[in-house]
Amino acid sequence: MTGMIMSREVTIDNSAAMIKDFIPYPEIETIRLRLRKISVSDLEDMFFMRSDSEVNLYLGDYRHASKQVTSEWLDKIIAGIENEDWLFWVMESKVERRFVGSVCLWNLSTETNSAELGYAVHPDFQKQGLMDEALKAVVNFGFERMKLSFIDAFTHRENQPSIRLLERNAFVFDPNRKAEEGSPNICYVKKSK
Ligand SMILES: CC(C)(COP(=O)(O)OP(=O)(O)OC[C@H]1O[C@@H](n2cnc3c(N)ncnc32)[C@H](O)[C@@H]1OP(=O)(O)O)[C@@H](O)C(=O)NCCC(=O)NCCS
Repeated sequence: MTGMIMSREVTIDNSAAMIKDFIPYPEIETIRLRLRKISVSDLEDMFFMRSDSEVNLYLGDYRHASKQVTSEWLDKIIAGIENEDWLFWVMESKVERRFVGSVCLWNLSTETNSAELGYAVHPDFQKQGLMDEALKAVVNFGFERMKLSFIDAFTHRENQPSIRLLERNAFVFDPNRKAEEGSPNICYVKKSK
C-alpha cells in the first residue's frame, strides 16, 4: 500500500520503495567513529548496555538478567541482519577502537517505507556529541541509500537527552503516533526531503 500518511505535525509521501542493500554490510565512517556490524564479540559491551541501570533508565523493563540472555539476543540480532530485517551498528572510536554505543534501524516497513531508530551511548562517552554524529550518518544512510520516506523514533517522554538529540536533528514530535497503551513513550518523526 502506498499513499499519504497525514498527521497534525507531518505529511509524508510514502510512495517510494525501500532499498535493502545490506550485503556487504554497510559500514559507515564519521569524523570520530566507525559504525560496524554488531558481532558475537560485542557480548561483554552489549551485556553492560542491556543491564546497566543508568543506560536503561528510560528503556522500560527489557533489561537482560544474564550474559546468556544477551548472547541469545545477539544471535537474534545477527540473524535478523542476515535476513535483512534490520540494521544494527556498533559505534567504535576510530582512534582507540573502543566500544562507544550502538545505533539501529529496525521495524522496517515496506508498507509505509519507513524504519525506526534505536540508539544508546555508553556512559563514558555521553555528552560529547558522539550519538549526534552517529545519528546524522545513519539518518543520512536511511534517506540516501535506503530511500526511506520517513524515520520514527520512540522515546520516553522524560528522556530529555534523547529528546534534545532528536530535536537537534529536526525530528518532529507527532502527537498522533501512539506507543502501545500505557507506554510513557512518545513519537518523533523525520521525513525525507
Ligand atoms: C540519549 C543519549 C544517546 C544521548 O546521548 P548524548 O551523548 O547526550 O547525545 P549527543 O551525542 O547528542 O551529545 C549531545 C551533548 O553533548 C554535548 N557536546 C559536547 N561536545 C559536543 C560536540 N563536539 N558536538 C555536539 N555535542 C557536543 C552537547 O552540548 C550535548 O549536551 P546537552 O545534551 O547537555 O546539551 C544517551 O543519553 C543515552 O544513551 N541514554 C541511554 C539510552 C537511551 O535512553 N536511549 C534512547 C532510546 S529512545
